[in-house]
Order: sequence, then C-alpha cells, then structure tokens
Amino acid sequence: MISMKKLYVLAQLALITSLTSVAFTSQAAEVTGSVEAGNGKVWLCTGCHSIPDYRADYPFIYRVPMLGGQNAGYIATALSEYKKGERKHPTMRSIAGSLSDQDMADLGAYYAAQTASSPNNPLK
Ligand code: HEC
Repeated sequence: MISMKKLYVLAQLALITSLTSVAFTSQAAEVTGSVEAGNGKVWLCTGCHSIPDYRADYPFIYRVPMLGGQNAGYIATALSEYKKGERKHPTMRSIAGSLSDQDMADLGAYYAAQTASSPNNPLK
C-alpha cells in the first residue's frame, strides 16, 4: 500500500517534470551565463533553496544547501553532474535532467550574483 506521503512526493515530481519540459526547451547554443536569464528560471529552485536550514525528506533527510554567493562554475558543474548521474540525489537529478547547458550557466550566474544571506528569490 503506497503511503499518502509517497503519493504527495510523486505528485510533486510529476508536476516539476511537466513544468520543466515546458519551461526549459532552449538548446545549448552558447554557455555564457546571464543573471537576467537565470532570474527568469530560478522559480524552479526557490521552493527548496530559498529556505534557510530547509530539509527535504525524500528519499532521506537532506539538508538543502543555500546557493547564494556560490561560484557560477561550481553550480553549473554540480547541475551537470546531477544530470549525468554522477551526483545521485533523485530530485536534483530529475530537475537537472531538464536543464540545458545554457540554463545551468544562467542559474550559476544568477546565484553567483547573490550573497549567502540574500533570500535567493527572483530579483523582480
Ligand atoms: C525539491 C527540492 C529541490 C529543488 C526544487 C531544487 N533543489 Fe537543488 N538541491 C536539493 C537538495 C536536497 C540538494 C542536496 C542534494 C545532495 O546532497 O546531493 C540540492 C543540491 C543542489 C546543488 C549542489 C549544491 C552543492 O553545494 O554542492 C545545486 C547546485 C543545486 N541543488 C541547484 C539547484 C537549482 C539550480 C535548482 C532549480 C533549477 C534546484 N537546485 C532545485 C533540493 C532541491
């Protein structure tokens, strides 16, 4: 018997998957990150990465890292490692799997322009 909690998580994942296939269809033509473009894409990340000390509880308890002020290249590389499966966290893998190289560079640029204590929400 599948628990309500699992069902809820699956529904969230299905939603994320369907949203991302609409939002991230751009092809990786060039990979210079744009803060502005990242600002338009970061809504997908704020639900988890904007809450200080937030813990995601699927499939285990994970501490969700705050990304503001992190190096842009580090973020883009981490995302591509999730996409390739070199990093294993299932939700991050599913999210990164829908991102192009351009999306990753934009998100990296966005977070690099933030600070560790900024709320990491879209700028406007
Ligand atoms: C459902 C919650 C959730 C969402 C949504 C989410 N993340 Fe994450 N993210 C996590 C968790 C949990 C981890 C830590 C996983 C691990 O330990 O590998 C993580 C890790 C990361 C890391 C690695 C950080 C480090 O210090 O190594 C990066 C980069 C990242 N996420 C970027 C993003 C971006 C960009 C988005 C939006 C496109 C996003 N995440 C959306 C939960 C989420």
